[in-house]
Formats: sequence, C-alpha cells, structure tokens
Amino acid sequence: MSKDFFLFLRQTMRSPSGVGAVAPSGRALGRAMASHIDLDNGPVVEIGSGTGAITRQIMAAAIKPEQLSLFEMNPEFCTRLKLKFNGVTVHNKKAQDMSNYWQGELGAVISGLPLLNMPVPVQHEIASSVFCALKPGAPMIQFTYGPKPPLDEQVRDELGLVYTKAERIWFNLPPATVYLFRKS
Ligand SMILES: C[S@@+](CC[C@H](N)C(=O)[O-])C[C@H]1O[C@@H](n2cnc3c(N)ncnc32)[C@H](O)[C@@H]1O
Repeated sequence: MSKDFFLFLRQTMRSPSGVGAVAPSGRALGRAMASHIDLDNGPVVEIGSGTGAITRQIMAAAIKPEQLSLFEMNPEFCTRLKLKFNGVTVHNKKAQDMSNYWQGELGAVISGLPLLNMPVPVQHEIASSVFCALKPGAPMIQFTYGPKPPLDEQVRDELGLVYTKAERIWFNLPPATVYLFRKS
C-alpha cells in the first residue's frame, strides 16, 4: 500500500463527509477524465485533488504545470500535492473561491468533489463559482459512483446547465461514471 493510500485513509477517518471516499481514484478514471481536456483552450483547474490521483493523469496528458491549478481544502493533502507536482499552483482553499481568481478564462474544470454528499446550497455555490471561472462552452468534468448525474437537478436548472454522460470506468473501485456539465 502506498503512502498516499494511508494519508487518504487517515484523512477519511478524520473527516468522512469532507473527503467523501475511502480510497483515491484509480488510474483509468483519472485518464478518462483528463481525456476531456482541450489543452489549447486555456488554463485548467482541478478541485478536490486529494492526494493527486487525478492530477497525475492530467499531468500525463502533457499539460504545462503553469497551466494547472489545484483547489484542495485539506492542508495535509495540499502539503503532499506541493511536494509531488512541481510548478503546479496549489491553493489550500475551497473550490467556491475559484471565481476570485478567474472569470470566463478557464478551458476546463476537473472535479473530484463528492458533490452529491453536499447540501444543495453548497453545490450551488461551487457550481456558480466554477461556471463563472470557465470560458463559455467549456466543461466541468465530474465523476460519480452512483446512478444519478453528480449535480443536483435544482442546481442544474438554476444555473442553466446541461450534461453529457461520458464513459463508465469499470476498472475503478468502485466503478465510476464520468459526466461533462456545460452552460446551455
Ligand atoms: C473524494 S476525494 C477525491 C480525491 C481525489 N481527487 C481522487 O479522486 O482520489 C474529495 C476531495 O475533495 C476535498 N474537498 C471537499 N470539499 C471541498 C471544497 N469545498 N473545496 C475544495 N476541496 C474540497 C476533500 O478534502 C478531498 O480531498
């Protein structure tokens, strides 16, 4: 078992609802999410990076480190992320703060947040900030383990979002589905 796995487990035991999973995402899921990034469309932000399982696959997709920023609210995960991803900007901040940094400039946002575990007003705050920061038409890429789209219907309606169900990753524990959200 890796150091990341044990750090993840410790933080999950400390804050089960904040972390929202018992293990980091698998490589196949990270790769599938990263495959939806258009590297020529502008900077990319990952929210809820954890120990960097998805970040690693975003980097493997040949993004320049200075084009990638991470928002992770857990300080211990941030320390690990800074050590692992040289040149990537790590914000020990909530995803909700993203729109203080960009407005209509991002090419994609990749989310590892457990959004459906969060109250609807919090989902709304996060999605509002994400879609304020994204360029028109650019995607928010989000995975879920469940059968429903991973953003509450009320939030989608209020913000005018549409979604596409992309791939199902059977080789993840548990199997996960990738969704793309865009402003309609
Ligand atoms: C399910 S884990 C995913 C970690 C990693 N992306 C992966 O797939 O293995 C969710 C992460 O989101 C972080 N998180 C939860 N709420 C957040 C928020 N509002 N802003 C930023 N990070 C948050 C947690 O600390 C945790 O690291």
